[in-house]
Amino acid sequence: MKLAEARKRIEVLKKEIEEHNRRYYVLNQPVISDFEYDLLMNELETLEKMFPELATSDSPTKRVGSDLTREFVQYQHKYPMLSLSNTYSEEEVNEFHQRVIKIASNKDVEYVCELKFDGASISLTYKNGRLERALTRGDGYTGDDVTRNALVIKNIPEKLSTGDYPDEFIIRGEVLMPRPVFDELNRERSAQGFQLFANPRNAASGTLKLLDPSVVASRNLECYLYYLLGDNLPYDNHYQNMLKARDWGFRISEHMKLCKGIEEVMLYINYWNEARKELLFDTDGVVIKVNNIALQDELGYTAKSPRWAIAYKYKAEQASTRLLSVDFQVGRTGTITPVANLEPVPLGGTIVKRASLHNADQIELLDLHLNDTVFVEKGGEIIPKIVGVDISKREPRSTKVEFIDNCPECGTRLVRNEDEANHYCPNYLHCPPQIKGRIEHFISRKAMNIEGLGEETVDLLYKQGLVRNIADLYELKMEQLVPLERMGEKSASNLIAGIERSKETPFHRVLYALGIRHVGETVARTLASEFKDIDSLMSADQEKIISIRDIGPKIAASIRNYFEDKENIEIIKRLKSYGINFSLSDASAGKSSGKLSGKTIVISGVFSRFTREEYKEMIEKHGGKNSSSVTSATSFILAGDNMGPAKRQKAESLGIPLVSEEEFLKMLE
Ligand code: IVH
Repeated sequence: MKLAEARKRIEVLKKEIEEHNRRYYVLNQPVISDFEYDLLMNELETLEKMFPELATSDSPTKRVGSDLTREFVQYQHKYPMLSLSNTYSEEEVNEFHQRVIKIASNKDVEYVCELKFDGASISLTYKNGRLERALTRGDGYTGDDVTRNALVIKNIPEKLSTGDYPDEFIIRGEVLMPRPVFDELNRERSAQGFQLFANPRNAASGTLKLLDPSVVASRNLECYLYYLLGDNLPYDNHYQNMLKARDWGFRISEHMKLCKGIEEVMLYINYWNEARKELLFDTDGVVIKVNNIALQDELGYTAKSPRWAIAYKYKAEQASTRLLSVDFQVGRTGTITPVANLEPVPLGGTIVKRASLHNADQIELLDLHLNDTVFVEKGGEIIPKIVGVDISKREPRSTKVEFIDNCPECGTRLVRNEDEANHYCPNYLHCPPQIKGRIEHFISRKAMNIEGLGEETVDLLYKQGLVRNIADLYELKMEQLVPLERMGEKSASNLIAGIERSKETPFHRVLYALGIRHVGETVARTLASEFKDIDSLMSADQEKIISIRDIGPKIAASIRNYFEDKENIEIIKRLKSYGINFSLSDASAGKSSGKLSGKTIVISGVFSRFTREEYKEMIEKHGGKNSSSVTSATSFILAGDNMGPAKRQKAESLGIPLVSEEEFLKMLE
């Protein structure tokens, strides 16, 4: 390759990698697999080695991708937070070992093998046994301060249990979302019309950057710690330091292993290639670290990663097959998903016949043609995806795959909003999958929680013409239900009873149940407590809605849209006439009762039903007094999750009762 050509290619690669970094670290929406990303990076590294005069210090090969955002305060890392060099080949692990033993002058070297967790990395500073600050990796030198969020994550202790820790130290690890939590979260997001997270890693790092810790708390993140730093560490080796950190109260992976020599490292790698599939968390490889810290120091660092560690990554399983056709599916919220039909091919223990194509951009990016030979991959996602096309096998004059213009279910012209990746069908009132989707959302557990009514029954009721919208549910009669397939007397009467019971559902859940685009549980709660009843919300203009904390223009526009539709107004009118709750109860609306007069109350912890501010207002409205410190004059503590341990201890020593949010709301009823 000539210099000029290399210069051009390097520029292209740099731009492309920067864009993928932004998509991965900031937007949490990657469009290529880690393997493809590593290939680009490898190519850039090779070119920079061949033409050192073209290697600049701002190259992505010398810096870690940045996750910094404008929403958080930023602090410098005391020790830079680097990346790991990685490889997909055992041979390169061996080469790493050769470099290590050369520096160690051929002494036997101990390695610690760990799983490579695929989440968002975090750096925690502890001073005198208390968490002082939690930072994201950021650009490696400064990170976003996410302490408030870290405090609500299980296994990030606010205070340490035993006393033999250094006065100050840093511990780093990975924040993760267990797969079952991820699946549930995406199910909910799909019902609410939010874009889905591509995998648990994106969900974990997106959650860590949320501004409301109570939403973070509800997402059940976990954290594994894997690296201790500081001036006065207890031991001269990584392994014992980790065991010690476990005693202090940190979660250290039970799968960490001390290996005597490179052969044991290889056994570990091979063992986890299969065993990792049984884990609750995604792991994409193994991290191999030199155990002895003095030897680590001798080996030192490159600009981007330590020379004393390497990540061995498992290659996602791939297969090649032929693309037969593309279907366009309409989701419950009208989102159109292209799905490829493939010639069946075995991959990772199953036969793959279909693969996700995500959206129009992805089809364009792959430049997909019918009958193409394509590569399918099973990554962290359950549905396999098409990651590439073998252009050399393309038939001449084959037809390019075009995205559709009209909804395949109802024929309506599709819409794609600016800065959204998906097309959707706007005919949300009359497009069959959307009608059924909205009913399914309405009856779901977190909405109206109507028992005895599942997806199949909704389908049946729709097909029979018995329900066309959520209001129709309340007019169902026994004699219509009993003759239905698989129904019978008992199920029908259970269903009617479930529908009747749903009339007691509190207002904020009713609001959520309506399925207004972008109105999730938290937004519904906020709207309910601000507007108190549906009429005030219906008559509020866009400006008034935007003025509410945490509600942006996108949500406000969607709410306005919903209430501008005559058919929606008609449905709400009908629901009202059946007795559905469209206003806050007196207790939650904060009407004064004097029930707390003479009481001094301290609020502590994170709450799920109302915000702290709302509880403070409620206390005042009911004649109580708010106080921030626990003293003998405190009547009780309104205690949420993760209440501060100092407050808890003080309350215990003074014999002051803790009242949960449920108990508190009951007191006001
Ligand atoms: S040690 C100086 N150990 O992988 C290197 N990192 O690709 C310190 N990671 O930024 C990191 N599992 O976010 C280490 N067992 C493990 C890990 C791990 C996952 C992440 C970490 C790091 C990235 C590098």
